This record gives sequence, C-alpha cells and structure tokens, in this order.
Amino acid sequence: MADSAAGPVDLVVLGGGSGGYAAALRAAELGLSVVLIEKDKLGGTCLHRGCIPTKALLHSAEIVDNINESETFGVRSTLDGIDMAKVNAYKDSVVAGLFKGLTGLVKARGIELVQGTGRLVSPTAVAVGDRVVEGRHVLLATGSYPKTLPGLDIDHERVITSDDALVLDRVPASAVVLGAGAIGCEFASVWRSYGAEVTIVEALGHLVPLEDESSSKLLERAFRKRGITQHLGARFAGVKTTDDSVTVSLESGRTIEAELLLVAVGRGPVSANLGYEEVGVALDRGYVLVDRELRTNIPTISALGDLRPGLQLAHVGFAEGIYVAERLAGLNPVPVDYDNIPRVTYSHPEVASVGLTEAAARERFGEVRTVTYNLAGNGKAQILRTTGAVTLVAAPDGPVVGVHMVGDRVGELIAEAQLITNWEAFPAEVAQLIHPHPTLSEALGEAHLALAGKPLHTHG
Ligand code: NAI
Repeated sequence: MADSAAGPVDLVVLGGGSGGYAAALRAAELGLSVVLIEKDKLGGTCLHRGCIPTKALLHSAEIVDNINESETFGVRSTLDGIDMAKVNAYKDSVVAGLFKGLTGLVKARGIELVQGTGRLVSPTAVAVGDRVVEGRHVLLATGSYPKTLPGLDIDHERVITSDDALVLDRVPASAVVLGAGAIGCEFASVWRSYGAEVTIVEALGHLVPLEDESSSKLLERAFRKRGITQHLGARFAGVKTTDDSVTVSLESGRTIEAELLLVAVGRGPVSANLGYEEVGVALDRGYVLVDRELRTNIPTISALGDLRPGLQLAHVGFAEGIYVAERLAGLNPVPVDYDNIPRVTYSHPEVASVGLTEAAARERFGEVRTVTYNLAGNGKAQILRTTGAVTLVAAPDGPVVGVHMVGDRVGELIAEAQLITNWEAFPAEVAQLIHPHPTLSEALGEAHLALAGKPLHTHG
C-alpha cells in the first residue's frame, strides 16, 4: 500500500541513529514533513550499543579505580566485589532515560516514526512491510556493525564483539582484545579496572594508531603500568575455542590463552539487502559514496554517518544530520569540515585530540613547531594523581593545527582545543586567555604560553 494519496513527505529517513534522528529533528524544526524509519530502537548504535553504555561502564570502572587507589588519598577502603547485574542495571537505566527523552523529542517535533525494516525501492521511496513511504528526498542513515576478520567466526560466547561485551553478565577473568582502536582500548581499560588479565593484540605499531605518536606512547606506558599486556605490530593468525576458553595464536607463533576474545577491528557499513544496489546507489565495499554535500550519485538520495567512508563518530553524525536537513530546507549551509573534528578515547587515562598529528602536519607544511607540556607541572593533575601531557602542533609562524592530550578527564578539555584549531588561532592569541587555577585546562594555557615563547611553569 503506497502513501501516495497523502502525497510524498519532504524527507524519508532510513535509520534512527545519531545521524538519522539529528536530520529528522532539524528538518522538522525547519518545517519539513518527516518520516523516520527505524527497525530497532531510536538512538541507534551510540545510545544502545556504543557511546553511552560504554561510558557508563567506564564510569563504573573509574569508581573501582578510585577505591583501589583510595589509600593514596588517605582513605582506607576495600573493594568488596563487582556486581555485574547492578552495573548493567545502572548502565541500562542511563540508556533508558535518554531513550525516553529522545522518543519524546521526536514525537514533539511531529516526526512520524515508523517501526520496521525499511527497504529502498526507488530514488524516492522506502518500503516498510507492505507500506511504501514516498518522499521528495531520502536519507540513508543505516549505520554500521562490528566487523570481524575473514575466517574469524563470532560465536557470541567465547569470541565476541563490542555488542556482546556490553551485555556480559560477568567480569571475565582474562580477555584478549584484538584491535587497539577506541573500542579495543576502552574495553581493555574497563576490564582491567574490574580486575581481569587483559592482553591487547594490535597489527599496527601502536595503541590508538591513528592518534599522534606522542599520545599513543603515553597510553602504552600508562596501560603497561596498569598491567595491560600489549602485543603491538602483531598479526592475528587464528583462535581455538573450548567451552570455557580461547587460545589465540599470532603469526609470530605466540599463543595467548584467555576466557574470551573481543574482536574490535573496526565497523562495517549496514548496506546489504536494503535495496541500495538495486536502486543504483553507488557503493564502495559496502560504504555508500557521497560528495561533500552528502549526496549519493542519485540526486534525491543522501547518506551520512557510519554508512559513508570516513570518521565513524556520533558527533559527526549529528553534524551531518543537521547539515543535510538545512540543505534540504534550502538554507545553503556550510558542509561539515572533517579536518577539525574532536576525537576522544575514554580509557583510563583518556586520549583526546583535534586537528593534525605532528606527522600529518609535517607532510602538509614541511616544517612544524611542537610543544609538549607534561601534566606533572599541572596542579590539578597532581591533585588527581593523573599523568599525561598536552602536545601542540603549529604551522611555521602560523596557527595551531593540532592538539593532542592524554590524561584523566582530558576529553572534557578538547572542546576548548577545537575552538583553537577551528578558529585557526595563533599561539600568542591563546596565550592571552586566562585559564582558571587550579584546573586541568591550565595545561592547555601553559602549553600555548610555551609555544608563544613565554613559558611559565616550564623551561619552554
Ligand atoms: P578502529 O578501526 O578504530 O580500530 C581497529 C584496530 O584494529 C586498528 O587499530 C587496526 O589496526 C586493528 N586491526 C585490524 N585488523 C587487525 C588484525 N588482523 N590483527 C590485529 N589488529 C588488527 O575500530 P574500532 O576500535 O573497532 O572502532 C570502530 C569505530 O567506532 C571507529 O571508527 C571508532 O573511532 C569508533 N568508536 C569511537 C569511540 C570514541 O570516539 N570514543 C568509541 C568506540 C568506537
């Protein structure tokens, strides 16, 4: 049954994750009629299987760390155990609260939510069950799934993905984490805090290998101190499972036994069997190809979020959703600038960055200037007993083009750093800004003072 009697709506959004629902909310706000199709729950990966539940686990893990380290601060306390049922109840209650809020928001904006699996059937229509929703524009926002390696089967018991790890009813005694991107490092961090023996296997030479090398090295040192074993530059060869263990072998011949193996080698696009190919949407290895205005090769169809090649981050999805909605409403918005997107890995310690790594800046500018400010000189970091650093990368005689930080809570500082790189501020301009004392944010101020040639608590 087609909806054609009512005429096409302005926008049909396929997928209610961060990118899809942001587009729907903004489009509705701008007066467009919107149908949002979601097969599972509004909020998608970020709310239900990603950002939010993992950060709840990381917060619970932080409390464990606080208890274990409390003696340092003169407080005697003993960890009595971790009740995963209660941890999960806490995590689920956070998700449920946000889900309720989001559902209310979508309803309040007059967006029609259609529950079911949508399938693209033409450049302007999506079928859900026996209903066909016609739209002047269609936005593909079907997101991503946890990938695995060829021949490595996920059994969801011994060999698991982040989806399974999030609903685990116990703390594993030991775990091998395959892949040291954000997902691998965050779970390694949680499980280690909870007391597990954790081994990370990463094919490239560093943890969080896309980050500035200085950040990777600091995280490696911090994880080593926390007793997390790391095999870097190590290639996975295979895994054997029994009822209660896995034996992971590496190409070097080394074997590692553990209770489970977490596969965290990236996320692939959800684009198969959804009608994309049949309708003629251009794909590359399953990713939907888009131009900088997020249009596919079919003028009425746009795509965004984890589905297109590029950064897979919820906040990028939000920005892209707002952008597409404004473009469709005729506002002529500025396309998303992918060069200055803040990135945070919420491990203990955190890694946060924006802009170019030193290596990328050297490639672009030839010469660069860098300054590293060690958190050892920062009062608040000493109070918190966290270690790490702020590294700045600047173009020669030019603006700051990269900020890289490691340390607890530095994720909260990256918003200031992104103002610096996005506004192409010069070191001397930032050095003029007064940072409150004693805060971690002073580390940013001090690093800029040093880069501007007037170091305060450092030797420059
Ligand atoms: P990723 O692509 O960031 O990291 C995967 C890692 O696995 C890479 O370092 C890669 O070198 C390694 N790898 C690949 N094949 C391997 C092999 N055969 N043996 C050993 N290592 C191998 O993917 P990840 O961590 O799974 O995350 C997926 C996406 O979700 C990423 O885009 C990530 O940025 C995003 N995400 C972001 C978070 C955040 O912003 N805090 C949290 C979680 C995920």
